[in-house]
Amino acid sequence: MKLKKKNLLIITIILGLSSTGVFYFTTKDNNTADNNKKITEKKSSYTKESIKQIEKLNIKDKIDLNKYSKTLDKAIFSEDFDRDYVTYYEGAKYYDNKNLIKYINKLAKDGTAINEINEIFDKFIEFSNFDINNAKRYLSYSFKNSSYKNQDIVTRVNLSLDKPYYTDTKKVEDDSYIYALVNKYNYVSTSYVPSNLKPLFNISSLKMVDVAADAYKEFVEGAKKDGITFIGTTAYRSAAWQKQLYDSYVNKDGVEKADTYSARPGYSEHQLGYSVDLNDPNYKEKRISPSDYEWIKNNAYKYGFIIRFPGGKEDITGYQEENWHLRYVGKDVAKEIHDLNITFDEYYDLYIAKHN
Ligand code: DAL
Ligand code: ZN
Repeated sequence: MKLKKKNLLIITIILGLSSTGVFYFTTKDNNTADNNKKITEKKSSYTKESIKQIEKLNIKDKIDLNKYSKTLDKAIFSEDFDRDYVTYYEGAKYYDNKNLIKYINKLAKDGTAINEINEIFDKFIEFSNFDINNAKRYLSYSFKNSSYKNQDIVTRVNLSLDKPYYTDTKKVEDDSYIYALVNKYNYVSTSYVPSNLKPLFNISSLKMVDVAADAYKEFVEGAKKDGITFIGTTAYRSAAWQKQLYDSYVNKDGVEKADTYSARPGYSEHQLGYSVDLNDPNYKEKRISPSDYEWIKNNAYKYGFIIRFPGGKEDITGYQEENWHLRYVGKDVAKEIHDLNITFDEYYDLYIAKHN
């Protein structure tokens, strides 16, 4: 990122210098009204070809030819050129992005001011998960959350975290273990039941999707070699089961508190069959001990599991820390999530979701 910014700075300086050099040449008769309008290559740093194009598009009256705009220069040759937005192209800073003109069109159409467009691009366009549909929300979210890094603003807004939980929810389209993100904005239908559920090897009343059940066996055996015993307490849960649980928590603690530790029916990852809650029978105080958790942090990814609700990330996952809840994502993704030290939600937005 730093390098990119440096490059941009250099480009800006070069552009600045070149635009000051455009007045070297003046024509003899440039003070007559007519000739002030006459386009001469010498008076601007638009190339002959660009000037031809400007004349062809019949926009010379709308722009200041003496003030070179690289963005406008790009726009006039772009298939996305829209004459309604010529002033926007002229005023928008240039960024080396293949969708730049399309982005300007969209923001201009939505009534975004040029200075806002520049601010949006300045702060956010460099990120791979920049999504033009969320661009204005990035800006307002950044005003309210000035301590967040720009990259985090983009990711959080893409994840809908600028909206209240359970608003604008989307149904999960792909239930494969890498692609299925279930959280407070993404759900599976209450009738959804995963295919290929398989009983867990050491506790047959619990089931997971077969690949996850197989990985769970390896994980438990791996822990055993290091002297740690894990037993699953819950794995797949139907929506009806989740409802029963959630309702009981609401009765006990009220909605607000229950929502911090229990998913509503349809919004629980347990319904996907990729999650398991662990218990260490040798540890009586809680589900697992601090040293068990250390082991999980350092080893679960080797078996394809991630800690889905880590401590310190409550504002992203929407749930309090659950050091006992593992989610299967496969070994490759689990390793990346482990190494990057990010949540599955963030990973999903950064590396899986498609952005415009
Ligand atoms: N406890 C987790 C968040 C669930 O209910 O799915
Ligand atoms: Zn759980």
